[in-house]
Amino acid sequence: MAKGKKVTVIGTGNFGSTVAFILAMNGSCHRVMLRGRNYDVAKGKALDMSQAANAARQHTIVKAAKGPEDMVDSDVIVITAGAPRTPGMSRDDLLTKNAEIVKCYAREIREFAPDSIVIVVSNPLDVMTYVALKETGFPKERVLGMAGILDAARMAHFIFEKLEYGAGQIRATVMGGHGDTMVPLPKFTTVAGVPIEDLLDSEEIGEIVRKTRNGGAEIVNLLGSGSAYYAPAKSTTVMVEAILQDTNQIHSCAVMLDNDYGHSDIVSGVPVMIGAGGAEKVIPMTLKPLQQERFKNSIASVQEMVDKLYELNFFNDDKE
Ligand code: LAC
Repeated sequence: MAKGKKVTVIGTGNFGSTVAFILAMNGSCHRVMLRGRNYDVAKGKALDMSQAANAARQHTIVKAAKGPEDMVDSDVIVITAGAPRTPGMSRDDLLTKNAEIVKCYAREIREFAPDSIVIVVSNPLDVMTYVALKETGFPKERVLGMAGILDAARMAHFIFEKLEYGAGQIRATVMGGHGDTMVPLPKFTTVAGVPIEDLLDSEEIGEIVRKTRNGGAEIVNLLGSGSAYYAPAKSTTVMVEAILQDTNQIHSCAVMLDNDYGHSDIVSGVPVMIGAGGAEKVIPMTLKPLQQERFKNSIASVQEMVDKLYELNFFNDDKE
């Protein structure tokens, strides 16, 4: 049996497949386990990717999981499973449907991969991260949601589109939930260290903020079916690699707040130091009153959905 780092990707749709493919192309780990509802499809994709890894002169082997027992020994597990948005649907419309799916996988992870670190990308993202945390019973460091990296990448793209220079040098910051109330932070956004407020006027910045908030929906509408996956998958692999390589770098991720930014027992996107232990440290940042207010609003919209799940007795059924 091959040793080395193992990553399981749950979900073999466009998102999950692209996550696995990027890991294989980068040689980020020794083994990628692809887990989907249809074993033959997962196996076909796994073979295709393993062969691609050889073309890329990488050592990563991709395999299809037959069942939950194939998650054993995973260092990182990425949950992409769930229904995607369709045009006109908000991420929040997916709430109960995807909560059941994430709960089911979270319980399997608790049983078969109790030492893993879980990255959640199913929507509504912050609530699904909360569900995964409660249902695995893992410490908060070991369950993270992917979104801030994606939203910041979208913001960086829109800044580049406006400036027409600085690609790859734009450091955008987005906090809060991965939803319509996300909080892009132009004041903490620079191009090679130059604040964007020195490069763009407030109207242009306002437009970039709007486009960032609408970045996912714009793609959903264009695709007609399914949501974005290249940028979401790349953003996810940034987190996976930060964990596997113990980089201790700061990324914006959705984590359980525990007296962070004035909130507790709720998941939201904040700057986090990621290392081998997962979300090892939430990095405090001084927010201006308006930014604080927007972050609070964003928290409130996530809280509303979490409350809805409690009202439905979602967390109280038998865990065995
Ligand atoms: C998006 C989905 C992945 O933002 O939430 O494209």
